[in-house]
Amino acid sequence: MQITELSEKYLHQAVDLWETTGLTRPWNDPLADARRALREPTSTVLAMIENDQVVGTAMTGHDGHRGWLYYVAVDPRRQGNGLGRSLVDAASRWLRERAVPKVQLMVRSENASVIDFYEPLGFEDQQVVVLGRRLDQSEARAGKE
Ligand SMILES: CC(C)(COP(=O)(O)OP(=O)(O)OC[C@H]1O[C@@H](n2cnc3c(N)ncnc32)[C@H](O)[C@@H]1OP(=O)(O)O)[C@@H](O)C(=O)NCCC(=O)NCCS
Repeated sequence: MQITELSEKYLHQAVDLWETTGLTRPWNDPLADARRALREPTSTVLAMIENDQVVGTAMTGHDGHRGWLYYVAVDPRRQGNGLGRSLVDAASRWLRERAVPKVQLMVRSENASVIDFYEPLGFEDQQVVVLGRRLDQSEARAGKE
């Protein structure tokens, strides 16, 4: 099955898949996330299409040093057939072709069982804590929250 860059035609199907697989959160706009990744030269969204349906995705992007994976998802009806592995491999290849030396991802604590999917693919706990904050709110507001 072919993995290609997500096209405009399939954007909404990809977002539907992210909702179905529990990857969306109310404070994120998945459509905007996808459009931003597709617009920038250092990021993309890869998709697996079968019978005109998006059955899997992986968003990736890099800062030159580290690559990240986001929205790794497979249609629940197609899970357990190696599609997830193929998507992670394709995203890793996309990064390698751009000479990015590392790849990593964040696993939400409530989704820790998915670590069993990533470990056979060579991903290891990096023994770091990720700190973050939003930048799309005013400084004053961000400081209070
Ligand atoms: C994670 C996900 C992309 C895997 O896709 P997939 O096509 O089922 O993956 P594969 O078939 O390539 O590999 C599945 C293997 O991982 C193992 N695995 C262990 N824990 C798993 C888990 N929580 N979810 C999926 N697979 C898991 C399976 O047992 C299977 O092992 P096997 O090949 O020895 O039988 C898919 O389950 C999914 O969309 N999950 C919901 C979204 C999600 O949590 N994404 C990751 C965000 S960090």
